[in-house]
Amino acid sequence: MCGIVGYVGSRDGVPIVLEGLQRLEYRGYDSGGIAVAGASALRVHKAKGRIADLKSSLPKRIKGSPAIGHTRWATHGAPTDVNAHPHVDFSERFAVVHNGIIENAPQIKARLEADGITPVSETDTELVAHLIGQAAADHEDPVEALRSALSHVEGAYGLAVVDAQHPDRIMVARLGSPIVLGLGDREMYVASDVGAIVRHTKQVVHLEDGEIALLEADGFTTSTLDARPVQKISERVDFDAEDFDMGEHQHFLRKEIGEQPEAVERTISGRLDERFSTIKLGGLNLHPNELRSFKRVYILGCGSAYYSGEVGAQLIEELARIPATAEAASEFRYRNPVIDPDGLYIAVSQSGETADTLAAVEELTRKGARVLGVVNQVGSAIARATDGGIYIHAGPEVSVASSKSFTSTCVAFAMLAVHLGRIRDLSPADGDRLITALRELPAKIAAVLEQEEKIIEAAGWLSQFENAMFIGRVRGWPIAREAAQKIKEVAYMHAEAYQSAELKHGPLALIDAQMPVVAVVPDDELHEKQRSTLHEIRARSGPILAISHHELPTELAERTIVVPRTEPELEPILLNIPLQLLAYHAAKALDRDIDKPRNLAKSVTVE
Ligand code: F6R
Repeated sequence: MCGIVGYVGSRDGVPIVLEGLQRLEYRGYDSGGIAVAGASALRVHKAKGRIADLKSSLPKRIKGSPAIGHTRWATHGAPTDVNAHPHVDFSERFAVVHNGIIENAPQIKARLEADGITPVSETDTELVAHLIGQAAADHEDPVEALRSALSHVEGAYGLAVVDAQHPDRIMVARLGSPIVLGLGDREMYVASDVGAIVRHTKQVVHLEDGEIALLEADGFTTSTLDARPVQKISERVDFDAEDFDMGEHQHFLRKEIGEQPEAVERTISGRLDERFSTIKLGGLNLHPNELRSFKRVYILGCGSAYYSGEVGAQLIEELARIPATAEAASEFRYRNPVIDPDGLYIAVSQSGETADTLAAVEELTRKGARVLGVVNQVGSAIARATDGGIYIHAGPEVSVASSKSFTSTCVAFAMLAVHLGRIRDLSPADGDRLITALRELPAKIAAVLEQEEKIIEAAGWLSQFENAMFIGRVRGWPIAREAAQKIKEVAYMHAEAYQSAELKHGPLALIDAQMPVVAVVPDDELHEKQRSTLHEIRARSGPILAISHHELPTELAERTIVVPRTEPELEPILLNIPLQLLAYHAAKALDRDIDKPRNLAKSVTVE
């Protein structure tokens, strides 16, 4: 969604900020802008459209720092030059960039208008700039002015502010929208995503909700919204600037699908314990006695993270024999859930910043539940808010549509299931069997990726239809759901997922020659039953693409993509890989904006 980048130091800030904004372009935006605080005056430039448009509208060289910049994805007000950030207060002293949504914007606006301040834009952000400007009349210290202004604000924000009267500092604040500080050599950076600044520094500090920071070239200080000083410890991020480049690929999604063998290698690395036929998961922070005492597992996540949680719930039930369910985190807290005192709760999130998932974690923690995280982004809000968990180490995921994080999360759940199983009834032989299979997964994923030509042909065929049905049963069901979501997301193709046996209870009425069915039909105990469903579809002229372990006869499925076998419990992980490529190539055939699907954002930090 929106992006923030800022720099303070001895170099010119604008090129650094613009380059950082370009690294955040993949998140989608409709306008951009920058502000530089010079001695007693602000220079602000904004433009609707791409960063390239902003760049070409700038004067040749804008010297100095501090500089802040923003890419905006319109929420309050249309994507126009005026509505683009930064926004400047009535006294033209403060310039503000903001991610998030101010919920009490109408009330703030009414109050400002009563004080004779008429906003020039339609944005909620401009109102914050005016509040800071007003507060500065009563507070000599600009940080106090910011604190006072924010006490009137309800909603979510990640903010960066420059002050013309203090052209050596940037003030930042976070409540519900990520802000990361980057520590350089006598220079400081700020960004909403570490990918924007990793080229300059790998030493970062994550702001927590309710914290304010003051950045100067020599360092930073942090405090809370209620003025308590906070000591922060910096950490080193373990990825490189190249991780945020597309390399030889046309799209990040394709690059990241292709990276899955290495991503899974990292997920399992150092965790397979052959000696005790189990999995070592150091970050759980739970003694085996505690782990044995849980009677149920509840998994929460949104979108693809939720579907990976469904894969996880099945793995935990099968391997550890603990009842387990997955639920959309966005629904969870609004149904005032009964918290199970014997339950283990697990929040799943690639970004670790999804507002709905974080809110569910906070609700659970408030009610005393034990919550673990399965997270990609190290140090993210959900990682910090949970009692422990598993980092999936998939590496940075830039494409809005998730791929490698889904796969690595499923692998992490498989490891957790083996771990929980081995402290219960899972035999050492089964532990060994699954460890061997986990070790072999990267090579098998690579083997699936080699079938790309065949998948391209299938995607070309599928992309000619307006609608599609994705079906699967039990282990294949979350995969059908994930595949339907992926094709909706990147190919903008209407798709429904159904449990195969449910077709005859309603949706079979939709089947005809114009309704292709993508069927996940592994060689499992339900294979024969699924073949009956395929016959029912064929009898109604429904065209079928099967994902299976062997080539199906053409009278059952015109096309089959064959995936290698693994242990039955891990089968969903491999069955999903061709479906990712299918969505990608269908989107490519339809010439979609694959890495920035319309209306979507990479991390959904607002409700
Ligand atoms: C789909 C997709 C989304 C995310 C969801 C949760 O491809 O990426 O459905 O899975 O928005 O995001 P995280 O995992 O960051 O919590």
